[in-house]
Amino acid sequence: MDKLAIIGGRPLFGEIAISGAKNSALKVMAATLLTDGVLTISNMPRLADVDMMLRLLMQHGADAKFEGSVLTLHAKDIVSTEAPYDLVRKMRASFNVLGPLLAREGKAKVSLPGGCAIGARPVDLHLKALTAMGAEIELDEGYVIAAAPNGLHGAKIDFPFVSVGATEHTMLAATLAKGETVIHNAAREPEIADLADCLTAMGAKIEGAGESTIHIQGVGALHGGEHSVLPDRIETGSYAMAPGVAGGELFLRHARLDLLGAAVGALEEAGIRLEQQEGGIRVRREGDRCRAVNVLTQPFPGFPTDLQAQFMALMATADGVSAIKETIFEGRFMHAPEFARMGANISVDGQTATVRGVKRLKGAQVMATDLRASMGLVLAGLGAEGQTIVNRVYHLDRGFERLEEKLIQCGALIERIKE
Ligand code: UD1
Repeated sequence: MDKLAIIGGRPLFGEIAISGAKNSALKVMAATLLTDGVLTISNMPRLADVDMMLRLLMQHGADAKFEGSVLTLHAKDIVSTEAPYDLVRKMRASFNVLGPLLAREGKAKVSLPGGCAIGARPVDLHLKALTAMGAEIELDEGYVIAAAPNGLHGAKIDFPFVSVGATEHTMLAATLAKGETVIHNAAREPEIADLADCLTAMGAKIEGAGESTIHIQGVGALHGGEHSVLPDRIETGSYAMAPGVAGGELFLRHARLDLLGAAVGALEEAGIRLEQQEGGIRVRREGDRCRAVNVLTQPFPGFPTDLQAQFMALMATADGVSAIKETIFEGRFMHAPEFARMGANISVDGQTATVRGVKRLKGAQVMATDLRASMGLVLAGLGAEGQTIVNRVYHLDRGFERLEEKLIQCGALIERIKE
């Protein structure tokens, strides 16, 4: 398993190009199963999770061609409606092939998902929505077996709480359902509107994506289309914190401030200046040290749970005491003891982590526990004194494109140790 060795304490100067958003790309890819036409997706990040999704789509019968960051997908015929355990267990987003297969072929057998070990993460909302749309669903030996012999129909779906995946899944399936589907309490993450843009380019009729109520008018068939994936707001937020821990100034090319929601206020309050300029965002730390800020993770436009670990790294050396409350995923504080190995003063009580800022962290051997937590450890390492070794880098490869290369260009001392 590869490791990263980071020598901390060097301020970062330069430019980092922000890639297309992983979380959007994976769902946009699943949309290809809804049509026998050609879907061309540009600004695709090259990531392990994207490769995993590709393998799954090809197994269902899609042809795929990657040229640079442009992916061409063509699912002319669906050759299998089964998504096996081996391909679904490693990545939760792959579960989203269920709705498209069901909508197009009237049946599907999809393994229950895996993904990062952050809390229980059930799929009950996904299944309730598909059932309301006329699917007959059974669970058998870890698989969801679904059938819609007469096709899916429109339905009123009222989610009890916000779920990104369930909103996207419902939207995908509803494009080909008979009649209108209305999603109440829909997620408003920018990736939802991005997926809706792609589906609209393919002929779907969707209104309200990005708001709490989404209306989808089912159509008889979708055609091929072209779509460019929006920039990754989690990658943006993560690199925006780098000058906060290590000092310096970065230009985040392609990044958009409007995608960051409450993270903008939290970073500015902490003392990181963010300025939208033409073509990207300029970030720098004001003063020598960041200030402690309390944050609460919430669905968009609230502070994203996917930046919580990175923010904890920032707060670990901020001036003062910060309370970080995680409301989206139970058990998403597994990185706290890893930061403690580097000298951070963090105590966790239920859903809240209290971070007492210390002047400096010290390099140590640490273990990446999930994708976003790994980025938190990299940030901590960039600011720490001496060498940090981040073990289990495969988590990072799932979601951050060319991480070492991007940071080295800005003066970081970071090296991959292959094992
Ligand atoms: C997506 C993102 C993930 C991000 C999360 C929240 C992708 C590939 N992943 O994950 O990076 O952290 O949104 O912004 O886009 N839940 C249920 N039942 C369900 C569905 C969800 O109880 O059927 C719960 C989850 O366990 C969690 C909460 O709802 O506690 C929110 O999860 P959700 O928004 O669905 O996250 P994902 O779509 O899995």
